[in-house]
Amino acid sequence: MHLTKDEERVYDGESGWAGQTCMRILVRLGELFGAEKLIPIESAHVSGVSYKTLGDAPVDFLKALADAGGKARVETTINPQSFDLDYLAKKLPARIRRKQMEILKQFERMNVAPSMTCTPYYLNTPKRGSHLAWAESSAVVYANSVLDARTNREGGPSALAAAIIGKTPDHGMHKAENRLPNVLVNVEKPLRNETEFGALGIHLGKVLGDGVPLIRGLRGASESGLKQLGAALAAAGMTNMFHTDAKAARLKDAQKINVGPQDVARTIESLTTTSTQKPDLVFFGCPHCSMNEIRRIAELADGRKMKPQMECWVCTSRHVKKRMMPEVKRIERSGFHVLTDVCTVVSWTETLGIKTIMTNSAKTAHYAPTLNKADTILAPLEECLKTAFRG
Ligand code: F3S
Repeated sequence: MHLTKDEERVYDGESGWAGQTCMRILVRLGELFGAEKLIPIESAHVSGVSYKTLGDAPVDFLKALADAGGKARVETTINPQSFDLDYLAKKLPARIRRKQMEILKQFERMNVAPSMTCTPYYLNTPKRGSHLAWAESSAVVYANSVLDARTNREGGPSALAAAIIGKTPDHGMHKAENRLPNVLVNVEKPLRNETEFGALGIHLGKVLGDGVPLIRGLRGASESGLKQLGAALAAAGMTNMFHTDAKAARLKDAQKINVGPQDVARTIESLTTTSTQKPDLVFFGCPHCSMNEIRRIAELADGRKMKPQMECWVCTSRHVKKRMMPEVKRIERSGFHVLTDVCTVVSWTETLGIKTIMTNSAKTAHYAPTLNKADTILAPLEECLKTAFRG
C-alpha cells in the first residue's frame, strides 16, 4: 500500500502510540483487501458501544487509546449503548451502569460525540459521493443505497482507527466498479408495510452472499421501508448496498432471483418463534425511529391506553426525540417509553425479565433469539399496537 510521507511518519510512531496503532490497523486492513492507498473520510461511525455486547476486554484498548491522546479528526458518532439514562438505567445494577459509563467516557475523551444512535444519517446526512468509515451495518447499507455515500462495513476498531486518522483504505464500496449491481431481484408483488420490507431483506440476505442486487418491484417504497430492507439485508448476510428501480442500472448476464409473496410470508413466519400473543415487550425503533416514524406512532397511539403490565419501548436518537417533543408526549401518554441512546437488541432484556418481544423490525426478530435469549413475534406496526393497547 502506498503511504504519503506524513502517513509514513504516523506509521513509524512519530505522532505517538495512538496514531501509530490506528495507522497500523488501517494499513493491515488495506493490505488484506488490496487497497493501494488511504482516502480522506467525511465521517466515522463506531459500533461496539454497548457493555452488554462489548464485555470487559475491549475497554482496556479504548482507555489506552484515550490515554495516549487519540482524538477523532473527523465527525464521529457512536452506536447505541445498553440503557437509557432516564428509564432503564434505574432498573439495572450499579455495576452495569458503572461499566457502561466507563466505555462512554473513553469515547468522550477521544472527541467522539455521545450520539448513541444507529441512524447517524438523521443527525448529519452525508453528502452524495462522500467517503465514510461506518461500522453499523444497517447504516452502511442505508448510506450506500439511499444516500449514495460510500462506506465499507467497518468493524468497531477499524471505524475508530479511521476516525482518529481521518482516512480509510480505498477498497470495496469506495470504488465505483464494486458498486455496480450484479444480481437482478424481481419482487413479484408490492410490499405492504415495513415488516414485509424487512422480511425481504432477511430472505435476500441469506441468498445474496456479498452481491449487490438491483431490486425491481419497489417503486414508491417509503424511506422507512428501504431502511428496514437494508438493516435486514445486512443482518442476514454480507450485502452492503442495493439498487432499486429508481436508479436502475444496466445489468447483463446477471444471476436472477424471483421473490414471491409466499417467500416474504414464510420469512415473517420463521421470525416468529412463539405462538403466544402476550409479549413482555412491544418494541419499535430498530433501526432508530425517524421523525416520520415517531409522527406515525403518535397518530396511531393518540388517545389509547396500553394494557396493564405491558412494557412498550420506542427507541430513537436524542436528536430526533428533541425535535419531536409534542409527538413524544402523545406517545408517552399512551404508556410507551420513548427511549434514546439504546435499543432492545443491545440492552439487558434478560436482566429485566423480558422473555418475549413483539416488534415490527425483522432485524430485531432475527437477532433477539440469540442476543436477547427471547422469543419473538414479528408483525407490522398496527398489529403490534393492537396487541399493546386495551382494545
Ligand atoms: Fe439499531 Fe439496535 Fe437495530 S443498533 S439497527 S436498533 S439492533
